[in-house]
Amino acid sequence: MDDRQFSQFLDRLDLSWQGYRKVRKGVKKRISRHMQRLGCYTLEEYFHILDNDSAVLREAELLMTVSISRFFRDRYLWQALEEVIIPDVIERYSEEINVWSAGCAQGQEAYSFKIMWDMLKTRFDKLPQLQLWATDVNPDYLSKAMEGVYMGSALKEASGEIKATYFRTSEDKLLYFIADHLKKGIIWETYNLIREPPPVKKFQIIFLRNNLLTYYRQEIKEPAFLRVVDSLVAGGFLIVGTHEKLPLQTRTLSQFKRYSYIFQKLNNPADSFSF
Ligand SMILES: C[S@@+](CC[C@H](N)C(=O)[O-])C[C@H]1O[C@@H](n2cnc3c(N)ncnc32)[C@H](O)[C@@H]1O
Repeated sequence: MDDRQFSQFLDRLDLSWQGYRKVRKGVKKRISRHMQRLGCYTLEEYFHILDNDSAVLREAELLMTVSISRFFRDRYLWQALEEVIIPDVIERYSEEINVWSAGCAQGQEAYSFKIMWDMLKTRFDKLPQLQLWATDVNPDYLSKAMEGVYMGSALKEASGEIKATYFRTSEDKLLYFIADHLKKGIIWETYNLIREPPPVKKFQIIFLRNNLLTYYRQEIKEPAFLRVVDSLVAGGFLIVGTHEKLPLQTRTLSQFKRYSYIFQKLNNPADSFSF
């Protein structure tokens, strides 16, 4: 499959060339193999099947998911969470907070939050009850997340203390197993950001990093993004990837301090967006 064909294929699935540019080699291979399995010699034949068989279309969509992630990805974001965001949220919501890792891949982001939360127990007398949702469109990633087994490379941004406290390793030290107590209380759900309404509508913190805003075309991400923002409480925080931009200008969200990837939902009830 050449780049022109790949670009046509991305268009068919409403995905963005920009998002897949760097990872296209591996993704093209997966799609070429899928075409071979289906006996398709041309893209036209492949499109014909995708147009007429929703199960095959879903297979193709799942083959296009990219699961690259790691614990405490973008360490400075986690520092901002620990030092500024969480203390603010805890002060305003002393009983319960709802957090959503949307497009959680194999759980690295959700478990990072759990670890941070556990570490905060020594700093605060009382923490609110944590409800943590972790969702992904790809059920295989969620199964892996629930197992909680990782290669060392997934932990390259985690400190030695975190590795020693929250993981045990295999004898050859190649694999890291997450501590069982961290697995408890996470609500894992298969969920498609572009097709379904958010799981609940009262999140204080939403992680929407390196998925919707990177991989989808503009027309697709705008309505999905609005649904995500709608599920934040006023005063809640939306965290996007450090290289991502919001898909539309909004007066409902404002950048939080100097952090270009953290947005706070304003209390203004007149939600208004400009496209
Ligand atoms: C590159 S990973 C990012 C993981 C994590 N958020 C991070 O920043 O480290 C992207 C994840 O988004 C998921 N994803 C892609 N499209 C999605 C959709 N429409 N709905 C839900 N999840 C989606 C993929 O399956 C993949 O696990």
